Amino acid sequence: MMLKPIATVLLAFSFMTATLPTPTLAGTVHPTTAITKDLETAVNTQIRHELEAAYFYLALANVYEQQALFGFAHWFTVQFFEETTHARLMMKFLTDKGNDVRLETLQPTSVKKELTAMDGATLGLQAEEAQTGRIHTLYELARSAKAYDLENVMAFFVKEQVQEESSFTDLQQKLKIIGTSPEGLLALDRDLLARPMPVVQPLPVIGP
Ligand SMILES: [Fe+2]
Ligand SMILES: [Fe+2]
Repeated sequence: MMLKPIATVLLAFSFMTATLPTPTLAGTVHPTTAITKDLETAVNTQIRHELEAAYFYLALANVYEQQALFGFAHWFTVQFFEETTHARLMMKFLTDKGNDVRLETLQPTSVKKELTAMDGATLGLQAEEAQTGRIHTLYELARSAKAYDLENVMAFFVKEQVQEESSFTDLQQKLKIIGTSPEGLLALDRDLLARPMPVVQPLPVIGP
């Protein structure tokens, strides 16, 4: 291949540079930037709520362990892991964006030793409903701030909350059917042992 004389290349280059439009602010693609401090604080607070939910489910697991309802204890321990995964996903988002993760102080949790299986299902559903409200608020904040990346992350959690609430309403329904039957309760307790326990839970990929 024959090389072009340098003068021709330089001329072509100067022509190109002369004709390239000057970038304007309106036409440029913005580089990845951290989310605003207000949004960062809101995400950090939600991380605390996720970890408090984890803490709460761990307390329930301990109550059922003491009552020898090992299936319920197992099921709530898996739920504990789920909530820690939610918190880790939000932390990963913040660090990916160059934002700061601040682990806030967790509120203490206490549950009565005498809780019935139905109490756990009802308290869990109430906790998930409250969490759904917070997730929706955060989604709305991201959307109104045009923080599309955070909006996308929160859209994942909006969907996740449907599944979270549904797992507790299913549990409530089964307990309603069982009523006061000890055999029914023990059968459900055995069934709950089948919920897979994560060994090392990889973070799921958040997609649209
Ligand atoms: Fe959660
Ligand atoms: Fe949850």
